[in-house]
Formats: sequence, structure tokens, C-alpha cells
Amino acid sequence: MKASEKIYEGKAKILYRTEDPNLLIQYFKDDATAFNAQKKGTIQNKGVVNCAVSSVIFEFLETKGIKTHFVKKLDDRQMLIKKVEIIPLEVVIRNYVAGSLAKRTGKPEGEKLPETLVEWYYKDDALGDPMVTKDHIRIFKLATNDEIAKVETLAKKVNDLLVPYFEQREILLVDYKLEFGRHPEGILLADEITPDGCRLWDAKTREKMDKDRFRFDLGKVEEGYKQIYERVVG
Ligand code: TMP
Repeated sequence: MKASEKIYEGKAKILYRTEDPNLLIQYFKDDATAFNAQKKGTIQNKGVVNCAVSSVIFEFLETKGIKTHFVKKLDDRQMLIKKVEIIPLEVVIRNYVAGSLAKRTGKPEGEKLPETLVEWYYKDDALGDPMVTKDHIRIFKLATNDEIAKVETLAKKVNDLLVPYFEQREILLVDYKLEFGRHPEGILLADEITPDGCRLWDAKTREKMDKDRFRFDLGKVEEGYKQIYERVVG
């Protein structure tokens, strides 16, 4: 399968058409942005790490019965995916307090949450991806009640699978962002699961191994991604 026309270029990925109208190629770039692209940079080899990590995780989730857009990994930076209509929601799942949740609640970073917290954000760069409630989602027709319920159930299922998956690799899955897409087969888990959109800490030392190293200039950014690659892929 070969890439043809570019149909979308985002901050970290490019989507290309293929000869099959139902399949796209998702290409992973080294470009990194943070704070709604106010901060820009490059993380050497990030695209290779993210393509591999995302492929392995989607494959794992598929074996556990989660339907995803993943078809197969094509090469270092490209994966073949099913074409979906992305639901314009960023679904954030949190197991520990960190990031914007720490800011909003005043709770200390690293505090374990008594249960899985699901948050909803409207995926719109121009608006800065504002947080929304299920009522906003329904009233502004971003998704139907049925879709919201299905996405929430799926997100919690994914979390129940990924927490122990990362634990076995001595990684704490602190929080992460998922996206879902509409497809004739139903709602599919889409986008990516990578250190760009997950907070991943070393389970023992709690050292950050994800994009927070880039966001907050913590240094050793590439090393963080390499650690995740080695523990998940290698
Ligand atoms: P937050 O604490 O900044 O709200 O982020 C929660 C999680 O979502 C974190 O793992 C990073 C991820 N995330 C994205 O993937 N994209 C985004 O635009 C934002 C704001 C967060």
C-alpha cells in the first residue's frame, strides 16, 4: 500500500490517501508542539518511536477485543489505518493527579485518584480545546448520547487494559488522551497512543518519560521516548 494525496497535516502526523478509499496512511513526524502550538520544536526520532509504540498498543488492544482504526504497521513512520470520521472530542482518562487537573483542583501531582476520571474536551485548536460537559456535547451535537455512552465505556475498558499493561513494563499510566472515530463497523479507537498524548512515569522513581519533558524543558527528551520504546516495543 502506497501513500498518494496528502489529505490532512496535523501538528505531529500527516494523513495520506491510498488506492483503497477506505484506508489511509498515518505518517508520524518528529515535530513537537505544546500549549496549543505556542511552543514548537523537534524531538529526534519521535515519529519512529510513536509509530512503533502506537502499533504495538493498538495490536494489544485488538487482541483484547477493542476495535481500533489500526490495520498494520507499514514501515518506521507509517501505519495503515481505517478511514473514520473523527468525533471532535479529546477524551482524557486520568488515574493520578497531574497537569491541568493539578492546576484546577490544587491537588498535588502524583496523588492517586480513587477511581478513573474521564474528562471531555472539544477538539478545536482555534478555541484551545476547551473542556466541555456531556450536556455541551449533546446540545451542540458533537456526538449523540448513544455515542457518548459508548465512548465512555470503551475509554474505561481501554484503561482497565492499559494500566496493568504499562505496570508490567514498570510504567505508571498517569493520564492520557484518546480520540474515537465513526466507522461502518461502529465506533473505533483512533489517532495514536504514544508518549505525546500520555503521561508515563517510571513506576519506581516516578521520573517523567513523556512529552512533559519537552513541554516543561526537563531535558533528556529523546531519552524519555527511547525508554518508552524499549519497555513497550523492545
Ligand atoms: P492536561 O493535564 O494538560 O489536561 O493533559 C491530560 C493528558 O492529555 C496528558 O496526558 C496529555 C494529553 N493531552 C494531549 O494529548 N493533547 C492535548 O492537547 C492536551 C492538552 C493534553
